[in-house]
Amino acid sequence: MEIIVNETCEDMSRAAAKEIASVMNAKPDAVLGMATGSTPLGVYNELVRMHREEGLDFSQVTTFNLDEYVGLPVTHTQSYHYFMRENFFQHVNIPRQNIYIPSGTTDNYRAFCEWYEHRIEQAGGIDVQILGIGSDGHIAFNEPTSSLGSRTRIKTLAKQTIDDNARFFEDPADVPIYAITMGVGTILEAERIILLANGENKARAVAAAVEGPVTSMITASALQMHPEVLVFLDNQAASQLEMAEYYRWIQHNMPGAPGMR
Ligand code: PGA
Repeated sequence: MEIIVNETCEDMSRAAAKEIASVMNAKPDAVLGMATGSTPLGVYNELVRMHREEGLDFSQVTTFNLDEYVGLPVTHTQSYHYFMRENFFQHVNIPRQNIYIPSGTTDNYRAFCEWYEHRIEQAGGIDVQILGIGSDGHIAFNEPTSSLGSRTRIKTLAKQTIDDNARFFEDPADVPIYAITMGVGTILEAERIILLANGENKARAVAAAVEGPVTSMITASALQMHPEVLVFLDNQAASQLEMAEYYRWIQHNMPGAPGMR
């Protein structure tokens, strides 16, 4: 894991977007794994800016989103289909047929999950997967005790996640309790992973994921098993890391190491 601590959330978003753009520049038909939630919004804004002002081209890109609420139609303002369209897809030039988001309204979830996994495989796998982290340490909707080998499936959301997400719904009782989500095993197959976290309320989960034991109680900790994970944090999200000074030391010195960029 490479831990990159930034002063602010804006710095974090710019640094992560730059990394994604460099993957796209090296591979114009890159397959991107997309995340929803408040955390990646700054990254999406920056990618949109790069598209508009610097000609960053998405015309050959394919995307797969991590998850969707079960039961919300694509037109529902809290569905992840809606979120992605509003915040990203309508502002860049990804061909519509290259955009994949799990369905929250299929009548056969089992078949859909298998098809989704198959589509990722047929696309050649995900080149770079963007992830947020839940305050309970989840990645996508892989709640505590999810199998670290899990694949795309239906998950029952944890009480903590439902409470965290209630802020987006008029009535807290409207928060769906099920989601369709890529599994931890699915996520770990991405070539490269970018984990983002900002704010004090993520500090505990980040410390557990990065420095704690690998455990299904904090599914983000499974990322320790992946060979290429970049963790972009702001100062607040990094505030409970025991080794924060070491990570800053590495950031400062790594560019000078033999063979580094
Ligand atoms: P957030 O959600 O970005 O809205 O904090 C992150 C997550 O639950 O994965």
